[in-house]
Amino acid sequence: MTNINTEKLSSARFAQATDAFVEVFTASVDFDQRMAQQDIQGSIAHATMLAASGILTEQERDAIIEGLGQISEEILNGEFVWSIKQEDVHMNIEARLTDMIGIAGKKLHTGRSRNDQVATDIRLYLRHEIEQITAQLVRLQTAIIDLAEQNADTIMPGFTHLQVAQPITFGHHLMAWFEMLSRDHERLQDCKKRLNVMPLGAAALAGTSYPIDRHLTAQLLGFSRPSANSLDSVSDRDFAIEFTAAASLIMMHLSRFSEELILWSSAQFDFIEMPDAFCTGSSIMPQKKNPDVPELVRGKSGRVTGHLVSLLMLMKSQPLAYNKDNQEDKEPLFDTADTLINCLRAYADMVPHIAPKKANMYNSAKRGFATATDLADYLVRKGMAFRDAHEVVGLAVRLGIESQRDLSEISLTELQQFSALITADVFEYLTLEGSVASRKHIGGTAPETVRVAIETARESLKL
Ligand code: ARG
Repeated sequence: MTNINTEKLSSARFAQATDAFVEVFTASVDFDQRMAQQDIQGSIAHATMLAASGILTEQERDAIIEGLGQISEEILNGEFVWSIKQEDVHMNIEARLTDMIGIAGKKLHTGRSRNDQVATDIRLYLRHEIEQITAQLVRLQTAIIDLAEQNADTIMPGFTHLQVAQPITFGHHLMAWFEMLSRDHERLQDCKKRLNVMPLGAAALAGTSYPIDRHLTAQLLGFSRPSANSLDSVSDRDFAIEFTAAASLIMMHLSRFSEELILWSSAQFDFIEMPDAFCTGSSIMPQKKNPDVPELVRGKSGRVTGHLVSLLMLMKSQPLAYNKDNQEDKEPLFDTADTLINCLRAYADMVPHIAPKKANMYNSAKRGFATATDLADYLVRKGMAFRDAHEVVGLAVRLGIESQRDLSEISLTELQQFSALITADVFEYLTLEGSVASRKHIGGTAPETVRVAIETARESLKL
């Protein structure tokens, strides 16, 4: 017995101590300690269920719950001493509990394994994160709606291929961002529904021979139900992948907003003034005001998508059930949640201070022949076939380019050279205001329609 390393986790089985480097290499306590409160929450529910099922005495349960309460305090106060020797958050807490309360502490692990324990902890952790993330998302959605409301009539060029296409309202453009985020909102809630299922009771992989009450534990932890298959319970990380996929989509959306804000705040576009508090200067060029926050968010979207790919690769070749590979799920997951919440927060803080330069937006729409489609539609209404109208308007645009005038600035007589169908009322359609006001069907850019969309959006956030 002399060779036995009594500090080793499953000590009696081993004749040799763990290699010192392997001990560090296999430990996860440095990063999984952030699930400590969830681990304690899970253990309290487990002990409560064990006592209710006659597996622990009430005294043992009370000692465990009190001890775990103290440990929770020690962790929150920063007094808890984490040890690599205890490998992970679960063993660290259990070892400290046994130090504090003795034999009852050693009974806590009855009928469970770290495999179902860690799966439960991650789900509890992620459920909490999704709630925090959703709160920031709603702040951002609200900020977008508010800015859209102030700009329901603000005219700007709409783009396809980054070329001026047709006039739109800035409010309408902002509400497109809102739609993207509202799908993200739904995806997060959907992901939360599927992750809210309890693995505890699966134990190592096959379940346990103790008469446990999984419904009780699930209820105590606010899970909708116990999981249906013990092997799947300890090996499933779909919920982490789903979350990271939803996060990648949100980051992709934020990255697209970023790209637009960066373009619009450049001297070449000059559509918006970014708030100083969200920009920085250059150490060498005194004139610079760089849109750092959008640029960083755009950059960070790559990192989150990287985490999604990591998790998919992590899972793809694992046989059932638990494998140590799974310990690699935490860092990408934690970083995804942190990155996402920080980006959403920065955006929610920044968006209310974005100031549109309305005159520049307006003039830019005017310079790009944005109402060319309106002139074609006008001719069609007067009986011309659309393809012929397209031709006629092409000629008018060419005249505009050559004489450096917008379509609305070309005289009636000149326009009539291209088609006799054109009469004085054409100017109602060639103005930017007339063009946007005419697109008043559901989903269109007319100010009155945008106001309706804003109302609907506000209602949707109340649900
Ligand atoms: N630290 C481990 C993890 O993150 C906990 C589960 C360990 N289970 C085991 N059988 N070694 O996955």
